Amino acid sequence: MGTAGHEEVLQGVRRPLVAGNWKMNLDHLEAVRVVSEVGLRLHGEDMGSVEASVHPPFTDIRSVQTTLEDRTIPVALGAQDCHQEDRGAFTGEVSAPMLARLGVRYVIVGHSERRRYQGETDELVGLKLRAVLRHGMMPILCVGETAAQRDAGATSEVISSQLKSALDGLSGQHVARVVIAYEPLWAIGSGTPAGSEDAQAVARHIRQIACAQAPDGTECAGALRVLYGGSVTAGNVGDLLSQPDVDGVLVGGASLEPASFAEIILGASRVVG
Ligand code: PGA
Repeated sequence: MGTAGHEEVLQGVRRPLVAGNWKMNLDHLEAVRVVSEVGLRLHGEDMGSVEASVHPPFTDIRSVQTTLEDRTIPVALGAQDCHQEDRGAFTGEVSAPMLARLGVRYVIVGHSERRRYQGETDELVGLKLRAVLRHGMMPILCVGETAAQRDAGATSEVISSQLKSALDGLSGQHVARVVIAYEPLWAIGSGTPAGSEDAQAVARHIRQIACAQAPDGTECAGALRVLYGGSVTAGNVGDLLSQPDVDGVLVGGASLEPASFAEIILGASRVVG
């Protein structure tokens, strides 16, 4: 599989990541305006070790790529999904090599909205994750429980099973290149994030489960990045990132406004340096 991201793994560094998932919002003209304004707000500011990414709709990616490059905006390019096959008769789909060719660094796989509306299974999510790794990019694998599962005390069990089926058979070195986002479904778009201590407990569980099944798991545990996602704002990012096992955030709604997204990135850098 590809090699991008090895620098983080080899140095055992968990570089904090603030990823903006735009979902089906912003056309390519709006996208250029948003990333340009984010760039202006980050210009001259100290982001410390924090890395930021944006995940626009497919139709925006080329325009966002050239804007980020032309204006040297310190934000990585991401995508929201890809097909599991590299090419072929799959009308309407976009492959991992197509994204890699555009300079995409991170691809979200298994977001709960795709699991719910497109019927994506754990098995399919695992295949997509492997396609992303095969082409030298880094997957952001989303896992999380529903409100009913949480109320039934099944959070750990649900997350373990999602992780095991997506990561089964990968080496520790490959697992360490996967970014895992804990996104409780009840927190997404609700305005009510998980408490930071709950996010911490689940993030620690994710690190243990994800790395335990890899033969070289110890190296993985020190390098694997775990994000929290679900109603993240500039007001709560500090609390979340001060937790030892939370290595970043996946932001939906608040990433669509340049001011709030830049504030979240800068807020993260104030906490983690
Ligand atoms: P939200 O979405 O920040 O709007 O809650 C998060 C996500 O779905 O990734």
